[in-house]
Amino acid sequence: MPDTTDRPRVGRRAFLGLTAASLGAAWVAACERSAQDVLSPGRGLGPLFGKGGGSTTRNPLRIPQIVSPSALTLQAAPGTASFGGTQTSTAWMYNGQFPGPTIVANSGGTATIQFVNALGEESITHWHGMKVDDANDGHPRLAVPPGDSYSYQFAIAQRAALNWYHPHPHMLTGKQVYYGLAGAFIVRDAEETALSLPSGAYEVPLIIRDASFDSAGNLKFGSKASGFIGSDPLVNGTRSPMLAVDKALYRFRILNGCNARVLRLALNPGAPFTLIGNDGGLLTSATSIGEITLAPAERLDVLLDLGGLAAGESVMLRCLDAGWDLLELRGTGAVTANATIPTGTLSSITPLSGPATPTRTFSFDGMTRINGVVYDISRIDFRVPVGQVERWRFRTNGNAPHPVHVHGTSFQVQSRTGGRDQLYPWESGWKDTVLLGDRETVDILIKFERTGLYLIHCHQLAHEDQGMMSNFLVV
Ligand code: C2O
Ligand code: CU
Repeated sequence: MPDTTDRPRVGRRAFLGLTAASLGAAWVAACERSAQDVLSPGRGLGPLFGKGGGSTTRNPLRIPQIVSPSALTLQAAPGTASFGGTQTSTAWMYNGQFPGPTIVANSGGTATIQFVNALGEESITHWHGMKVDDANDGHPRLAVPPGDSYSYQFAIAQRAALNWYHPHPHMLTGKQVYYGLAGAFIVRDAEETALSLPSGAYEVPLIIRDASFDSAGNLKFGSKASGFIGSDPLVNGTRSPMLAVDKALYRFRILNGCNARVLRLALNPGAPFTLIGNDGGLLTSATSIGEITLAPAERLDVLLDLGGLAAGESVMLRCLDAGWDLLELRGTGAVTANATIPTGTLSSITPLSGPATPTRTFSFDGMTRINGVVYDISRIDFRVPVGQVERWRFRTNGNAPHPVHVHGTSFQVQSRTGGRDQLYPWESGWKDTVLLGDRETVDILIKFERTGLYLIHCHQLAHEDQGMMSNFLVV
């Protein structure tokens, strides 16, 4: 049963003594962390109380248009994107939108999507997190040339989750995603609906990514072998975004859509998130948590009780490692009793049981190889028996973060040894992407329900494009 008494509330009152000036120095120090520190969450909420968002001019957060996957045409084409205010940029977009429209589908339904390539180079669309047969998976061998199209038709046969879609052409994924080709793909089911979670204006997708701009304000891309790290954040394609919020419960569906940057998310003032889901959908129960490390392609489902936020007060979603104010939530003062945080079981998740020793080991080598070899689009690197649980072990000899993504199914993370040496609440349940840091060994249990040709790769998109990817056949 939902319960309204014992839940974290966000409000400024507890933090009135703190000012930006008194904490400025701590912030500068906190923002100078090395990339290594990106992989060390759990430092607590100490340095949270930095600058508020009140002084910057903020742009209304863009909410992508919602579309159904039936008879949908998705055209990738160059165009002009507006990032808020007067700033526009040339961009590559699905249906002229940055990010692309949010596809919302019901489990049990069907997707019929025509992808039209109006770019000047080949492309194909991958439905990241969707469990589809290999003709519908957007493998790079299926890329279509400029002017051509690809027809997808697949059953939506999986649990509720925030998935996403983006291009997957050979060696061009990083550039195409960077210039704006990405969108949310939300699946709903009866289990989720029964929880009466916040919906409509109270359920907000947040695609967080970084970007760099030239002096004219246009997107600037540099393909560095070590990965593209942009100088500024965009949330749903909006610079310095602001969302006007009621005194209500909100559900944020968060995707790290960066090419390479790991985000460390927290709220200022330091209120916790109520974590309810991740890549693979709902977790077994809600967890209150102060900060969350989110690697490229990972997703989060969090609730935020803004019932205590008075008119004009605000809460900032921040990235602690970059020192970024990502999104200002500004109170309207309007009271909306829309939903409550579920306290019991959110979802029943059956743990996979499988071998205790690794069935296969994958070494993420340098910035270009898995198990010593660079990706070859026509080489099958290994074969996996359908319907059997295997233990896969991920290791690296450096150059992390490597967010490891597997196509075709979801997996359950078993352990992380070395490096951060622990698993985090957002890594429970079902996943399709897991962050492998330097010196870490991560084990997963995985099972495929259908045969076909799939991919495992690093979702640091420069690494992927440079060959840190393997084809495998489920047989
Ligand atoms: Cu999100 Cu193979 O990709
Ligand atoms: Cu990598």
